[in-house]
Amino acid sequence: MKVSMADNTVFWRDLSQPPVELVEGQGVYLFDRKGRRYLDAASGAAVSAIGHGNEEVAEAMAEQAKKLDFAHMSKFYSRSLVDLTDRLVGISPPEIARAHPVSGGSEANETAVKLARVFQIQRGKPRKYKVISRASSYHGATLGVLALSGKTKRQEAYAPLMRSNQKIAPAYCYRCPYGKSPSTCSLECADDLERAIVQEGEDTVAAFIAEPVSGSSAPGVHPPDGYWERVRGICDEYGVLLIVDEVMSGLGRTGRWWGIDHSGVVPEIITAAKGVGAGYSPLGAVLIHEKIYEVMEETGGKLNHGFTYGGNPISAAAGAKVIDVMRRDGLVGRAAEMGEILLKRLKESIGDHPQVGEIRGRGLLIGVEFVRDRGAREPFAEEDGVPGRIRSACMDYGVYIYPGGSTVNGTRTSQILLAPPFIIAEEGIDELIDGLTLGVEEVLG
Ligand SMILES: Cc1ncc(COP(=O)(O)O)c(C=O)c1O
Repeated sequence: MKVSMADNTVFWRDLSQPPVELVEGQGVYLFDRKGRRYLDAASGAAVSAIGHGNEEVAEAMAEQAKKLDFAHMSKFYSRSLVDLTDRLVGISPPEIARAHPVSGGSEANETAVKLARVFQIQRGKPRKYKVISRASSYHGATLGVLALSGKTKRQEAYAPLMRSNQKIAPAYCYRCPYGKSPSTCSLECADDLERAIVQEGEDTVAAFIAEPVSGSSAPGVHPPDGYWERVRGICDEYGVLLIVDEVMSGLGRTGRWWGIDHSGVVPEIITAAKGVGAGYSPLGAVLIHEKIYEVMEETGGKLNHGFTYGGNPISAAAGAKVIDVMRRDGLVGRAAEMGEILLKRLKESIGDHPQVGEIRGRGLLIGVEFVRDRGAREPFAEEDGVPGRIRSACMDYGVYIYPGGSTVNGTRTSQILLAPPFIIAEEGIDELIDGLTLGVEEVLG
């Protein structure tokens, strides 16, 4: 039998669960081949920030495709690329001076890690190469950044192919690794970075990478006040670069342009993807502090690295237009406003459910964590498949959510991610809450 029962030739990541064929996207809705409508409460995976079917972006891409389709960055670039990098730098802290284009989040983080390494060599610290990351994290699928991720299940089969690194405690207050509460917290999780740097040998550590607001591995989790300032101080003391992975939290999703903006701390490198192309084109970027640029320029440093599709003119045109639309329509402020409403409505609707442990988030990057036992905060086992079952149930009620998990020790827990397009209105939030409540009740009672 050459063609499977799924009636097509695609090799799915999970052959037992072929996905649903979509035929159209409009605003916050997706439509499948059978005419079913889903409210996209996850923007795919925190991607479709400005909603589906935006004609301005489609037109900008078509115009660019007609004019210049491709420019290989080894020797060429297009005006649309500069339009994109100007905008990315423009929405970033003043010290962020340059942007390097890639095609997605894994590429952005791989590039950031290599850039950190080259920077350390160029500034006369050639022994610095190690990267420290956090448990309960996700930085991408390629072997380099998968190794930095704290998501054991995703790594299991590939472990022999990867290099292990130090993972420090996550800033995860609901399951504080130190057993602290907000009133007794002394930011021990931030100080764990210093412990790890000293243990590794400060002259060997090049960078620390972390998500300002966690994505799929711990949806909506974000550190307590003062965390990033403490981390910044530790990085400065030991000559370690701070890389913030804003692949999911960036481009306005948390109600500020960057998740790190909530703290005022300026990292050396910001990585972005998902919301940059907003679903219209594969696109990502590495945003770079002026001090890195200066050292590279002064020393003639080269980033011996590149992806063929990096800087693609059509993708760049899409990204530039996405940022224009966000700015003109005030969508970042809207993400903050709608995020508060969604968080409140979630707490009112499912907050008292005996198997809802915590509801948290920033802007429209929100997580719901389910537990077996609320008092003991006992996580579900991965095998219980709670997030996947809730996703399927919600889809039956016309709402698409994104399952998350592998949070406790990189394996257990059940969480879902809610990250609708910023254009969602209050009626959309009502619809989301209705479908989600029914889905949760169907699976958990
Ligand atoms: C925080 C974070 N970093 C990196 C990635 C990898 O991005 P991509 O899937 O575009 O390679 C993701 C994807 O979910 C992510 O959420």
